[in-house]
Amino acid sequence: MKKVIITGATGMIGKGVLLECLDHKMISEVLTIGRNPTGLEHPKLKELIHQDFADFSNIKNQLSDYDACFFCLGRSAAGLGEEEYRHITYNYTIAPDSVVDTIQIGQAMINTVLKGYPKKVLRSKDILILSKK
Ligand SMILES: NC(=O)c1ccc[n+]([C@@H]2O[C@H](COP(=O)([O-])OP(=O)(O)OC[C@H]3O[C@@H](n4cnc5c(N)ncnc54)[C@H](OP(=O)(O)O)[C@@H]3O)[C@@H](O)[C@H]2O)c1
Repeated sequence: MKKVIITGATGMIGKGVLLECLDHKMISEVLTIGRNPTGLEHPKLKELIHQDFADFSNIKNQLSDYDACFFCLGRSAAGLGEEEYRHITYNYTIAPDSVVDTIQIGQAMINTVLKGYPKKVLRSKDILILSKK
């Protein structure tokens, strides 16, 4: 059984992902993180209301022990300047795992190919180890 996190679950994409996850027999728990509640009630569903998606430090200890995150939060680029679009689509996406950045991910991928690694799924702590190998 798997436990998953979903952001953007009040939106068109995230709501679809949420409904599929709640119906899926392999998923035992769904945690949504959002500025607003989804309005749904379900035995598998837990909701975490969180306002600043650039900073997860105050809720980080509630995010362990999950198997996957569907990061569905986002905005259309229409009407947004480059800086604001980058902030929402890039900075917010890497913030939950802010201990790793794209350079560390790239180095970890190279080191995995060159030296191997015993796990198939890498968590941020694995990426930190691999990026320094
Ligand atoms: N819809 C499509 O066909 C489609 C296709 C390709 C890609 N996408 C991309 O998928 C993403 C989601 O699209 P969507 O159609 O589901 O959009 P949507 O219906 O407008 O939903 C956006 C979701 O993101 C959240 N959100 C937006 N800005 C936020 C912010 N600053 N802080 C925290 N939460 C924020 C919203 O939460 P609130 O309820 O708090 O506003 C909502 O849950 C976007 O990046 C979009 O470009 C969509």
